[in-house]
Amino acid sequence: MSFPQHRPRRLRTTPAMRRLTAEHRLNAAELILPAFIREGLTEPNPIASMPGVVQHTSDTLRRAAAEAAELGLGGIMLFGIPETRDARGTASLDPDGVLNKAIRDVRAEVGDTLVIMSDVCLDEFTDHGHCGVLDDNGYVDNDATLEIYGQMAVAQANAGAHVLGPSGMMDGQIGVIRRALEDAGHKNTAVLAYAAKYASAFYGPFREAVDSQLKGDRRTYQMDAANRREAIAEVELDLEEGADMVMVKPAMSYLDIVADVAAMSPVPVAAYQISGEYAMIEAAAANGWIDRKAAIVESVMGIRRAGADMVLSYWATEIANWLKES
Ligand code: PBG
Repeated sequence: MSFPQHRPRRLRTTPAMRRLTAEHRLNAAELILPAFIREGLTEPNPIASMPGVVQHTSDTLRRAAAEAAELGLGGIMLFGIPETRDARGTASLDPDGVLNKAIRDVRAEVGDTLVIMSDVCLDEFTDHGHCGVLDDNGYVDNDATLEIYGQMAVAQANAGAHVLGPSGMMDGQIGVIRRALEDAGHKNTAVLAYAAKYASAFYGPFREAVDSQLKGDRRTYQMDAANRREAIAEVELDLEEGADMVMVKPAMSYLDIVADVAAMSPVPVAAYQISGEYAMIEAAAANGWIDRKAAIVESVMGIRRAGADMVLSYWATEIANWLKES
């Protein structure tokens, strides 16, 4: 007795058949490369917990951006690590500060051929490592922080960023940044809101990457991993304030959130495959426990399948190279 195969089986018979019937495929254009630049470096500095990722010098950052543009990546997201830090993150506003200078350099290198995004957040610039300034009780002072974010946003737009990425989870940050941009004549600078950003243990390696001074945690302003519905509320607020795109972060442990947001968002949805997601796959692959390339491709495919229109990934350049070969 022979039973008919179920229909999907017939669509899996050969690589060509699977390629034809794939519901999703990866494209370089939807990948965004997060990149770190550290002030005062003469050589790129490897990040131990993120093998293959470095803190760039201005030279190597320009080259990484040029390569990203060449490969047709969607964008680059810049993070700066300053030499000096203080309680108010003053260096973030200096037009010649590490991040603003990096934006200018990258813009000079790639022009409009790659979308240049930059991190609007104080954690890399404060000596206490929080995403905002602190009040007398050690709490993040939301309103005082917003004032600085508005100025930071204008400084980054002046430097040539196409898209600003406020990642600090301050209430009202999108509205304040939008208004500051309008007032400064930057009508075309877009805002990618880190709308549903969770307090996550998987940010660990990033904290090494930016040499974070944080002692406590960010649980009073980032979302609680227990909450799903709340992500929609956060996204709605950011949309009301004028977000042009919204982000879910992290990605892998939050694919339900990615799917929920993709289902309701009228604007493009990004997901950030964060440092800890990168580190886990690299560590397992280095031990020979998983097939590195297959695991990377599957992890990003999962994020796309969940509904993200674009993915920030430290593997963006490498994946784009693979896509070119295949
Ligand atoms: C805050 C920021 C963080 C990340 C991106 N922006 C760290 C945090 O919120 O603690 C994490 C990215 C990653 O882990 O790859 N400026």
